[in-house]
Amino acid sequence: MAPSAVAFDEGCIVPAALSEEGIEAITAAFVQAAYRSLQAGFQVIEIHAAHGYLLHQFLSPLSNRRSDRYGGSLENRTRLLRDIVSAIRNVWPENLPLLVRISTTDWVEGGWDIEQSLALVRQLLPLGVDLIDCSSGGSAPHARIPLGPGYQTSYAEQIRRETGGRTGAVGLITAPAQADHIIRSGQADLVLLARELLRDPYWPLRAARELGHLTAWPAQYVRAAPPHTPAFLPGAAGIKK
Ligand SMILES: Cc1cc2nc3c(=O)[nH]c(=O)nc-3n(C[C@H](O)[C@H](O)[C@H](O)COP(=O)(O)O)c2cc1C
Repeated sequence: MAPSAVAFDEGCIVPAALSEEGIEAITAAFVQAAYRSLQAGFQVIEIHAAHGYLLHQFLSPLSNRRSDRYGGSLENRTRLLRDIVSAIRNVWPENLPLLVRISTTDWVEGGWDIEQSLALVRQLLPLGVDLIDCSSGGSAPHARIPLGPGYQTSYAEQIRRETGGRTGAVGLITAPAQADHIIRSGQADLVLLARELLRDPYWPLRAARELGHLTAWPAQYVRAAPPHTPAFLPGAAGIKK
């Protein structure tokens, strides 16, 4: 299922265009998922509206060719995400963070871009979104993406500066000093790492040591920690058993 019957690339399956009832069912499913997350004890949720997944497909003119109230104008293409955010905010407690990940650009002429992202973020912030996680790409198979250290960070910085909303930076952030600089220089409020954490699951502890922070270690690891390392006890940091 997709907004429109448009295949991602040559040789890919042509999806069926969602009916209005199908769209409503998807909104309800997102709300159910948020509710189950709360019941399961999660304290943060992130709505995935990036990387070519369904909500990004609705945003991008490359994949959304609808002529009803979910397609065409920017207002219409952002409607499903706005509806889902509003509906989730009704079940997700006000004091718990709600994040939205977006692809800030499709990296393709005529696709979703930073200007549309800025407009979207200005719509999302008043609906109770606490942070925009700024990724990119995923909707165009032949997009030319200028990969390099921190290649998406400037979008997090621009969205933060121009909308006043909090942002997260992600993408080829690997060095503690790089992550520290992003936060200190006000480019983003949060740094997210994926592959570097797969390579080095202890990255946060290593980063804390390199940056000279005395960070608590899990109590059962303290015997292996540098001298004077405080123990982290469940409960002390607000984590409920
Ligand atoms: C194994 C793997 C699985 C991933 N799964 C997801 C996912 O489910 N949702 C998502 O938004 N990004 C996913 N990503 C992308 C990462 O969240 C991140 O945006 C991307 O890898 C760039 O950050 P990095 O350079 O720190 O890896 C995945 C990445 C990897 C390597």
